[in-house]
Amino acid sequence: MTDVEEVLSRLRRYPDVEALNLYAVDAADRLILDVAAEALTTDDSGKIAILGDAYGALTIGAIAAHDLREVRVHQDLLTGELALANNARALGFADRYTVHPLGAGLLDGVRVVLLRLPRALAGLAEVADAIARYADPEVVVFAGGRDKYLTKSMNDVLAQTFSEVRASRGRQKSRTLLVTGPKPVGSPPFPVRDRLDDLDIDVVAHGAAFSGARLDIGTRFLLQHLKWMKPDAREAIDLGCGTGILAVALAKARPGIRVVGTDQSAAAVASARATVAVNEVADRVTVVRDDAMSSAAANSADLVLCNPPFHVGAAVHTGSAIKMFAETGRVLRPGGELWTVFNSHLNYRGVIERMVGHTDVIGRNRKFTVTRSVRGLHDAQQR
Ligand SMILES: C[S@@+](CC[C@H](N)C(=O)[O-])C[C@H]1O[C@@H](n2cnc3c(N)ncnc32)[C@H](O)[C@@H]1O
Repeated sequence: MTDVEEVLSRLRRYPDVEALNLYAVDAADRLILDVAAEALTTDDSGKIAILGDAYGALTIGAIAAHDLREVRVHQDLLTGELALANNARALGFADRYTVHPLGAGLLDGVRVVLLRLPRALAGLAEVADAIARYADPEVVVFAGGRDKYLTKSMNDVLAQTFSEVRASRGRQKSRTLLVTGPKPVGSPPFPVRDRLDDLDIDVVAHGAAFSGARLDIGTRFLLQHLKWMKPDAREAIDLGCGTGILAVALAKARPGIRVVGTDQSAAAVASARATVAVNEVADRVTVVRDDAMSSAAANSADLVLCNPPFHVGAAVHTGSAIKMFAETGRVLRPGGELWTVFNSHLNYRGVIERMVGHTDVIGRNRKFTVTRSVRGLHDAQQR
């Protein structure tokens, strides 16, 4: 049998942010693999699904330990999906699993699910509903995470769709839940739709999308500056678009503008596409699943709007935001503008100035700072 610890020790997070305090594998991954070991060995091949794997530890760990051939995988985050692909290729397991959106193709007839519990309860509710809806009635879900991110509400959410939710073993500040007995399901609870009257926008949100169908207060503050954002912009990017509120607000305010929304979350992309459609701006707004905006050409945008993330996966870390600013420096045309909002204590101004160009603070309230950065000709020549 393959030495699983040796395999796990070779996993990397790349292309997600890599740093000394950020890990590709953690104690919760190891615990889920251990608790599920018996079910994985006896289970029919092809009836195993893995959801929410961070960088491939669950998928590759299960494949390596039990010589599995046909695992089905869903990861919301593109960086996780790419990291799993890189790790599986490097270790020779690339043909042992298939990637699926959250739905029937992923879960149809599945008897064992390994689930890394998502932090957002609505994200968990959508995942639980999909498992109950499509998996085999005998399905066993091994759900786990780090103690610091687990709440009693997660048990309650799971108990809405499953008749048994039992706390299983705890180890090294991690815990698993054993979830069985899918209840009958009604019409799908997601996506949800809500109206933002003051913006005249309808928002559609899948469970894992940032802020659900509500308007984040940082986004609201950024939107108050919309009319000052580069008035002659023709091509704009909503970087880390979530449900697409910024992209849609910009498109509605400026009939001539074209906007691309990008997000690495599959739930965000599906939400933003639906938000764009219901607000009837699909002729000028497109949405792509991308890591930052790696598929955008250099010097191709006049305006970037960004409410950057505070997290890299579960950890509070500025790496994702900094990656977004670096990408903005590459993609903006000379004279192009980045407008961003951040919690004032983060004090991103220096880093934005270095990576994009001259940066002014345009707005500040009790919590947030809004900045405008202009990419200079000098910056463009240096890159
Ligand atoms: C603070 S939320 C803002 C969402 C939306 N723009 C709004 O204002 O409601 C940050 C967004 O960035 C996305 N994100 C995080 N890291 C990313 C990356 N590497 N590439 C693309 N999007 C990313 C998250 O999925 C999330 O939707």
